[in-house]
Amino acid sequence: MRASTVVRTMTGIQVEGLSLSFPGRPPLRVLEDIDLDVPGGSFVSIVGPSGCGKSTLLRVLAGLLVPNKGTAQASGEDTCGRAGHTAYMPQRDLLLPWKKALNNAVLGAEIAGVSKHEARERALSLFDQFGLAGFEQAWPSQLSGGMRQRLALLRTFLLPMEVLLLDEPFGALDAITRRGMHQWLQEVWQRDQRTVLFVTHDVEEALLLSDVVYVMSARPGRLIERVDVRFPRPRGLEVVSDAEFVDMKARLLAALDRAMGNVPD
Ligand SMILES: Nc1ncnc2c1ncn2[C@@H]1O[C@H](COP(=O)(O)OP(=O)(O)OP(=O)(O)O)[C@@H](O)[C@H]1O
Ligand SMILES: [Mg+2]
Repeated sequence: MRASTVVRTMTGIQVEGLSLSFPGRPPLRVLEDIDLDVPGGSFVSIVGPSGCGKSTLLRVLAGLLVPNKGTAQASGEDTCGRAGHTAYMPQRDLLLPWKKALNNAVLGAEIAGVSKHEARERALSLFDQFGLAGFEQAWPSQLSGGMRQRLALLRTFLLPMEVLLLDEPFGALDAITRRGMHQWLQEVWQRDQRTVLFVTHDVEEALLLSDVVYVMSARPGRLIERVDVRFPRPRGLEVVSDAEFVDMKARLLAALDRAMGNVPD
């Protein structure tokens, strides 16, 4: 598929009865009986306590881990043990310090089979949109934390896949930079509306960005709560004080408390 192809038929993500344990004595049960449907073109988030299995689930969808049970599909393709069907942004940004920003940006697209020329042309057109114009030839060490995250996101958006898997892309940023990134990501996503599965610790961030937010329990991770978010986009800061938003946030925080075993089910 060409990087510039607009994906018109989006089938999203379907996970059914998925369980995964890491080998050991005893085995470490990480995911248990996960069912998840992310409709094509929607933005869905998962929040959950540290170590519950969020990144593990994304790694299954990225084709990097094979579950013990169940199925996982993205864009209609079986992802179990098969990389290349999703655009995956790992939890740590993984920019190569010895490559300049533009060369970092095109790396994944070239590996995914986009021609060098096309990848560079498209990356250059995105630098402005991603707030990085003028930094094409900068080294990663010359970029701020927010810019590095935007570059890692640019690289992910450049991949010619329908499904984007974003693992805590703003986790390392301060609160003010994060807020700016929320507004910016909404704009970028509205322009190039693909299917997104987003992992975060931040309930407010999840509500601002998503159509649906799920809560995963402590390990072994199960999805124990679902909240549908229907506010129109773009969602500005004012939405945070809306009574319905406050109510949804309280529901998610209560589910997180249950997830951590602080209160009974
Ligand atoms: N390759 C691996 N081999 C063995 N255990 C692993 C492996 N990868 C992850 N784990 C374990 O699986 C559990 C879930 O890890 P995972 O990274 O999915 O959690 P997480 O929900 O993403 O946590 P965080 O919010 O801190 O990023 C943890 O206990 C972790 O130690
Ligand atoms: Mg993680």
